[in-house]
Amino acid sequence: MKILLAGGAGYIGSHTAVELAQKGHEIIIVDNYSNSSKKVIDRIEKIISRPLEVFEADIKDKESMQPIMKETKPDCIIHLAGLKAVGESIENPVEYYRNNIDTTLTLLECMKESSVKRIVFSSSATVYGEENPIPYVETMKKGNCSNPYGWTKYMMEQILEDAACADKELSVVILRYFNPIGAHISGEIGEDPQGVPNNLMPYIAQTAVGRREHLTIFGNDYPTKDGTCRRDYIHVMDLANGHLKAVEYAENNKGFDVFNLGTGEPYSVLEMINAFEKASGVKIKYEFGNRRAGDLPEYWADSKKAQEILGWKAVRTIEDMCRDTWNWQKNNPVGYA
Ligand code: NAD
Ligand code: UD1
Repeated sequence: MKILLAGGAGYIGSHTAVELAQKGHEIIIVDNYSNSSKKVIDRIEKIISRPLEVFEADIKDKESMQPIMKETKPDCIIHLAGLKAVGESIENPVEYYRNNIDTTLTLLECMKESSVKRIVFSSSATVYGEENPIPYVETMKKGNCSNPYGWTKYMMEQILEDAACADKELSVVILRYFNPIGAHISGEIGEDPQGVPNNLMPYIAQTAVGRREHLTIFGNDYPTKDGTCRRDYIHVMDLANGHLKAVEYAENNKGFDVFNLGTGEPYSVLEMINAFEKASGVKIKYEFGNRRAGDLPEYWADSKKAQEILGWKAVRTIEDMCRDTWNWQKNNPVGYA
């Protein structure tokens, strides 16, 4: 299949491109590099040993996207393009609503004009909000998001559902990611956040490599077994494989569907530090700080639906996630820079 990855130069997109290309699919990447490096393209090409078709464009700009869609005629789109920093979305909500929602609307308009009927969308566990019991199941009510980033995901899911309802030929697959971490086993590609990392794993990895003085653990008084928050961390290559399964599903099924992609097994912040220290042999300096606004004590996925319908299951362990993160970070101490 010919698959267009919108936002394909980013962390999840680059790993997904590798997974799909290695399974024989033809990949087109469209990105404006607002949160990624052009160097990632060479790295992907090195892993897959063939050139990619790549376009630099702002996906919300219809005049840029129309000719790309007409020229490439993809069989399926994977829509990963979006701004994703929670804190930044609180400070600058309009930019987040504009970018995230407009990219989705433009893609849907261009799909209609070019008769592209399949789209897989990067959503997040954040749409389950603050009130659902755990584990999260796809049938639960969404909403009560704690920040504008989460609301953009909530709204984009709704837009895509309405589009699928109006056009019975459309196939829309929503993937709700839990906490993606890790890197490709080659160490060629990995997570390279701009500035100070917001997320736990890149912060730990950058502390290990000496770029950060120490990690601050946001709260140790949560009602969890060791007082620190627990999350469902998932290896980014397992997530990439979930996209492969979703694309295959979209080929054979019309309509709207939602799948959680998680392991179902939560780990606490202290357990993650411990696992990383074991994998890397490096001691992580940390101190306890205040709770971070918007953090929930713990949540994890019920991914039975993805297993039953997509035939997908996460297979990589926490040891694999830490080993591959460290392999990427120690080979690329300053990321792609
Ligand atoms: P990322 O920032 O590494 O990748 C997103 C890519 O989209 C970047 O390369 C960026 O340059 C590009 N982009 C953004 N706006 C664009 C625009 N207007 N035009 C063209 N390109 C644009 O993020 P990621 O971690 O790879 O996440 C991919 C998707 O998955 C995002 O939508 C994110 O919200 C979602 N998601 C990520 C996580 C996570 O923990 N990483 C969790 C849940 C959901
Ligand atoms: C966060 C976002 C979520 C988003 C996801 C992926 C919030 C409230 N949630 O999820 O909406 O979909 O990232 O981008 O921001 N931690 C520390 N010290 C750090 C960093 C993190 O202790 O320096 C802790 C956090 O408190 C949390 C855990 O580590 O308990 C995981 O944090 P993080 O990696 O940011 O993911 P989430 O908070 O689960």
